[in-house]
Amino acid sequence: GLGPVSDLVDLGTGEISREIFVNEEIFRREMEHLFPRAWLFVGHASQVPNPGDYFSSQMGSDPVLLTRDDKGEIHVLLNSCRHRGMRVCRYDEGNTMQFTCPYHAWSYSIDGALVETPGDLHGVPQMKAAYDNKLRKKQWGLVHCPNIHVYKGLVFANWDPEAPSFEEYVGDFHWWLDNLADAFDGTEGATEVFRGVLKWRIKSNWKFVSENFLGDTYHGASTHASVEAVGIGPGGKGKRRHGERQDQGGFSKGRMKTSFRLGHGASDNLAYEVPYPEFAEPEMEEYFAAAWQKRAEKLRAEDRPLGGRGPATLFPNMSFAAGFPRSILVAHPISPTETEVWRWFIVDKDAPEFVREWLRHYYMRYGGPAGMTEQDDMENWDYATQASLGVVARRYPYNYQQGLGQELPSDLDRAVHSHHAIAGEVNARAFYRRWAEFTDNLSWPELEELAKTDDR
Ligand code: FES
Ligand code: FE
Repeated sequence: GLGPVSDLVDLGTGEISREIFVNEEIFRREMEHLFPRAWLFVGHASQVPNPGDYFSSQMGSDPVLLTRDDKGEIHVLLNSCRHRGMRVCRYDEGNTMQFTCPYHAWSYSIDGALVETPGDLHGVPQMKAAYDNKLRKKQWGLVHCPNIHVYKGLVFANWDPEAPSFEEYVGDFHWWLDNLADAFDGTEGATEVFRGVLKWRIKSNWKFVSENFLGDTYHGASTHASVEAVGIGPGGKGKRRHGERQDQGGFSKGRMKTSFRLGHGASDNLAYEVPYPEFAEPEMEEYFAAAWQKRAEKLRAEDRPLGGRGPATLFPNMSFAAGFPRSILVAHPISPTETEVWRWFIVDKDAPEFVREWLRHYYMRYGGPAGMTEQDDMENWDYATQASLGVVARRYPYNYQQGLGQELPSDLDRAVHSHHAIAGEVNARAFYRRWAEFTDNLSWPELEELAKTDDR
């Protein structure tokens, strides 16, 4: 039988078993012990601005509905009827008075309660004939997720009533979330979701995606060589010589990695000031220069760092970038070897139309299944998964030895840096250590105790 998964993650040697990316039993343990206890990103408050609005999301193995009720409160509800489990809402998003189950028509209000209105066409059909009016409707509303935290518009939820608060779970990693959620000029939380959510499936394990965003800048020069060659980067200038990124791979303050004991990781540090790319369009240059100046003044006055734009991953499966592009990417686990990727794009609430138009084009050519970077990445992950499934292949671990034992202390709480600018795997090692602690079902006190240590 399979022992604890921590046996498969050797941080001393930097070797991690391929089993954790393909094994059915390990996937089952992740679904049972990791996802229902972790704080997961379910959507953005701007996706449900009005009473009656809903957005269909997913938390690990469970479909959920993010809704806003008549009082303006946000709910996260299990999207499964209490009678026989039918999916009560089959749309991706919308606005409704109530969710009527397609199977036998139990009806739930937007806050999840089984509708109380008397009469056969409301709430529960045949209430008198079938239940003699005795069904206790209050007990049979949609299942509520007990913990919800809205952080500057980003909606997170956690199924475990014993879970630590969102703030404790995130720790000092919040600086990166702030850069994602604050407007480009520094106005707190003044951002919203831009247009629809892109969704596509890949034939690989969800951890490939999380790991790639939290620290794998190593793949850029080779995997995304075509992006560089044709010049579809943020500035639209591009056409860099292949390998130019690789040449920048020595000690570089900007690309320094930050790794948290809590499992989160980012591919840059807070001292790194990335204003904005070099734009071909003067009006874009003008707009972002002004926004950047405002931001820099505000943050310097508050003695706050100006960097921290990612790419980054909030443990376990919310990845994002806070610069160009500014977007959120969640890797929903489907099976050990299948993942559904969702990508939200973020924009400043008060961005003028020409900025939105520019971003729309950039986001299309850069992200999503029709853009170039995503196709480059998913092809690697799919082929890596297929080539790791074989009986012989599975005997050989993956190598995570970059920068092993050369971590630098950080001023941030329970974090370390790696000066291995382009090529550093410290973040991945910390991620898999935390992953093993959750997946092995360590208790909350044990998890908390381990999170206090700053071992590397
Ligand atoms: Fe929903 Fe029967 S399954 S009403
Ligand atoms: Fe990539």
